[in-house]
Amino acid sequence: MITPEDYSYLSALLRTKSGLALGPGKEYLLESRLPPVAKAYGFASVNELVATLRTGPHQELIKAVCDAMTTGETFFFRDTVPFDLLRTTILPEAADRCRRAGRALRIWSAAASTGQESYSIAMLLADMGVQLSGVRVDLVATDFASHALNRARRGLFTQIEVQRGLPERYLRQFFINTPDGYRLADDIRRRVAFRELNLLESFRSLGQFDVILCRNVLIYFDSLTKKDVLDRLSSALTPGGYLFLGATETAFGLTERLVRIPDVPTSLHVRREDVTVAEQRLRVGTQAASVA
Ligand SMILES: C[S@@+](CC[C@H](N)C(=O)[O-])C[C@H]1O[C@@H](n2cnc3c(N)ncnc32)[C@H](O)[C@@H]1O
Repeated sequence: MITPEDYSYLSALLRTKSGLALGPGKEYLLESRLPPVAKAYGFASVNELVATLRTGPHQELIKAVCDAMTTGETFFFRDTVPFDLLRTTILPEAADRCRRAGRALRIWSAAASTGQESYSIAMLLADMGVQLSGVRVDLVATDFASHALNRARRGLFTQIEVQRGLPERYLRQFFINTPDGYRLADDIRRRVAFRELNLLESFRSLGQFDVILCRNVLIYFDSLTKKDVLDRLSSALTPGGYLFLGATETAFGLTERLVRIPDVPTSLHVRREDVTVAEQRLRVGTQAASVA
């Protein structure tokens, strides 16, 4: 049983270290997720683990606790619309701009979990082939949770995972059925550079991106943290760049720097100064896609 004191202590720890705003009444989450961490580190109980945490900075243990409390729910081509927009409109247009500017097209999956989001994009890029020819694409995927990233890097998925959202055609084209699971083709796997990154910390060193997907992670943060991350994400967008949030997430009411594009059935944001141009591009792109 988690005591009220341990609950307050762990809530504060999680909030400052990973941004997770546990809120009241979530004892059951700690009670279900922390016993394996306690066991792995040789503690008889979660209470013992917390007692040790209280004695000083145990960085590895803190990270293990925070990792265990993350929720990695994800699947291929989640919500469909962002990937349709990328394929029909955003990537061809961004590729054109990058080609003319002689620079790489840069995409960031900012809460990558076990890799399905970034690999969906990698498959899309492979599928788009000639449309993107002559442009180098940098595809970066980051997450806080080491265990999720380790799985992502392996590129090995279960039958259930490949049955969630992945078009049959892509399963046949890009996966090999092995005794260990469905292995993603090496050339798709190599397109993604995975890195551990805590969104609470500076991500300036990653540079700027034409497309950022930061989906279904802000929901776990409190408003101040959401605002801070969104403000910094707006600075990580190239002029004219796009930010996809999760279907239920919005920057509205949190930051003035980002504006949601109306009339697009997904949570797509751009920098305030880019709204008019982005709306026009999306209109033109969508018309072209429906004619094709
Ligand atoms: C629900 S998953 C979303 C995965 C994917 N973006 C999607 O929408 O399918 C949330 C991910 O956010 C990660 N996460 C939680 N806190 C984080 C933080 N402070 N910095 C970076 N990633 C974090 C978790 O480890 C988890 O993999």
